[in-house]
Amino acid sequence: MKNVPHPLIIGNWKMNPQSVSLSTKLAKDIKTYLTKKYSAEIVIAPPSIYLEGVKKIANGTRLFKIGAQNVHSEKLGAYTGEISLPMLRDVGVTYVILGHSERREMGETDLHINHKIHATLKAGIVPILCIGEKIRDDGGSHFTHIEQQMRNGLKDISRAKLENVVIAYEPVWAIGTGNNASPEDIHEMCLFIEKVLSDMYGRNYASKVRIIYGGSVSEKNAKDIFTRAPIDGFLVGGASLHPREFVHIIKAVST
Ligand code: PGA
Repeated sequence: MKNVPHPLIIGNWKMNPQSVSLSTKLAKDIKTYLTKKYSAEIVIAPPSIYLEGVKKIANGTRLFKIGAQNVHSEKLGAYTGEISLPMLRDVGVTYVILGHSERREMGETDLHINHKIHATLKAGIVPILCIGEKIRDDGGSHFTHIEQQMRNGLKDISRAKLENVVIAYEPVWAIGTGNNASPEDIHEMCLFIEKVLSDMYGRNYASKVRIIYGGSVSEKNAKDIFTRAPIDGFLVGGASLHPREFVHIIKAVST
């Protein structure tokens, strides 16, 4: 783990749950289980339509922040179905997940993601750049793939802005499968990501970037992964929909 103040835990609710009242219940239940202030920085990323409600539940407690699962790079205009950074900022969003593999699958390219990262940083919101290989082979093509996603996604991002970027290593084969990457594989990939960042920005700048892991993180594997791989936190999908389990994961990384 790097010299960062607190581990970062993000709950990515994806397109869940199915109603406003269920989203309110979920956020309230998480709050109930968070019986004290943990040393982790906690972010909940619900569907955008629930952001305001979840924020209201968080308000006053400072137990968790809210994040978005995507954003458009333009500030306003004729972009049917999209949501802008000023809108997100207005409801109190401080983190945005970008380039999630499920969005890449829908056609989002490295170029889109790069534009979104530039715009997000400019808006003073923290982008979480998701990268991850679909498959691994003995030839190590996953490293080439990761490097490409990093170089394209971070194109023209300045050294000064880099430390506000979070990188989420999420091997696609591990997402939602119950088949997490091993701590050894995550360790190796973290070192590789740091090396690419060092090549791009120099060691001092690279060492400030938070790297988190996502892909079937659960209450069963969180502690083991966190203690054995040099990561700064987790991006949690399925398990973030189960309040007790999500809080267990938070406890696993908290001192
Ligand atoms: P998962 O999802 O924890 O359900 O594997 C992680 C993610 O997609 O961010």
